[in-house]
Amino acid sequence: MKSAKSYIQEHKDRFIQELIDLLKIPSISADSAYKDDVIKTAQAIKNSLENAGCDVVEICETPGYPIVYGEKMIDPNLPTVLVYGHYDVQPPDPLDLWDSPPFEPVIKATELHPDGAIFARGSCDDKGQMYMHVKAMEYMTQTDQLPCNVKFMIEGEEEVGSESLGWFVERNQQKLANDIILISDTGMIANDVPSITTGLRGLSYVEVEVTGPNRDLHSGLYGGAVANPINILTKMIASLHDENNHITIPGFYDKVEELSQSERDAMAEAPFSLEAYQNALNIESVYGEAGYTTNERNSIRPTLDVNGIWGGYTGEGAKTVIASKAYAKISMRLVPNQEWTEITELFQNHFESIAPAGVEVKVTPHHGGQAYVTPIDTIGYQAASKAYESTFGKTPIPQRSGGSIPIVALFEKELGSKTILMGFGLDSDAIHSPNEHYGIWNYLKGIETIPQFYHHFVELSRES
Ligand code: BES
Ligand code: MN
Ligand code: MN
Repeated sequence: MKSAKSYIQEHKDRFIQELIDLLKIPSISADSAYKDDVIKTAQAIKNSLENAGCDVVEICETPGYPIVYGEKMIDPNLPTVLVYGHYDVQPPDPLDLWDSPPFEPVIKATELHPDGAIFARGSCDDKGQMYMHVKAMEYMTQTDQLPCNVKFMIEGEEEVGSESLGWFVERNQQKLANDIILISDTGMIANDVPSITTGLRGLSYVEVEVTGPNRDLHSGLYGGAVANPINILTKMIASLHDENNHITIPGFYDKVEELSQSERDAMAEAPFSLEAYQNALNIESVYGEAGYTTNERNSIRPTLDVNGIWGGYTGEGAKTVIASKAYAKISMRLVPNQEWTEITELFQNHFESIAPAGVEVKVTPHHGGQAYVTPIDTIGYQAASKAYESTFGKTPIPQRSGGSIPIVALFEKELGSKTILMGFGLDSDAIHSPNEHYGIWNYLKGIETIPQFYHHFVELSRES
């Protein structure tokens, strides 16, 4: 029987070309100007799932962007794997920081990707990683080695909060019934240090607006005598962290899961170089909450960050003005047991309460979601671990990530199943950033490793 390695070797040029074609469509879910392209991408995914051997493929309409559903059911007595991914991408801005246009993919070698990487928005997050599953499916069906039932659910709103997917999952529990959910939308430590993501942070995303006088004012005539919304907003934001970089919102830490010392010791064993971390970002020092290491700060601890701030005059030259309004977008990353709706409310109450007289404050909640932790004493995790062992020759390290895929906690609630996060990206792949890229080696290694997961999952299910 044909091995994945030789099948990939034979078809790799086409596998790469198909991904490049998909990356050319600017499926930016945040910007309604790209609506047609987002829908066109859903259609392209549908065609690719049909070509990969799915028996049923549907474009499921929702109140927002469609969800592409595909399945191949070979035997009701065998386990069912549900693959989730997203076909939407982040906006590519700022465009002038890209070395090549974001939707004209090019292959270039980098230090960490000597075999070449595809540079394009969505190459790693998540078109490239999602498409590995489509090609792994093609391999398994073409060589008669699909060992179980498969369902695909590929959405187009992940980067804007997965609202329609929540709607869809609640209405289609039967259709989506499965034994395990498999996602490639995270990263690993390094190409020679495979790891499996065992945790995702939750999220609460809010926008704030501070209003002062009813119109923009001459900063000489009025300066010093009325509240300046930008001055006030920055002062309010600065007060959200204390001198130890703890968040000052009352109640914010009340439910935070504290890890035991032995869990923290285990975390500290994962290979990590602070020097390499700093060098990669060109910073002289890291910065964060007192009492925690860098890897703890970016995975098991909650955070609060301004994602955007604006107001007043930002054009060329100078304009002496006190703006009537100032704005900011703020994200809070949450950890297990923090309720995202509760945190949003705590933020709202606190932020309103610290507003001084002379301004009005409005807080508008956006999306959010719960943190997620994958247990490692399950056949799902063991199957993934064995899969990496067989293709990387090393046991993968379990590691919690700081990123969020809010829908994963909802999957557990609505479908009752656990999720395995087999991500093949690297932190340096620049997702959400200019010059996003995805290693060709990682892409092909993913396609090789995924069928091994199926194989081991079915084997372990049989034994248990
Ligand atoms: N794929 C990422 C999340 C991710 C990346 C998790 C790397 C772990 C490692 C996903 O597409 C994403 O960007 N999620 C958003 C949240 C969403 C609600 C916009 C995030 O984490 O900011
Ligand atoms: Mn993603
Ligand atoms: Mn993303």
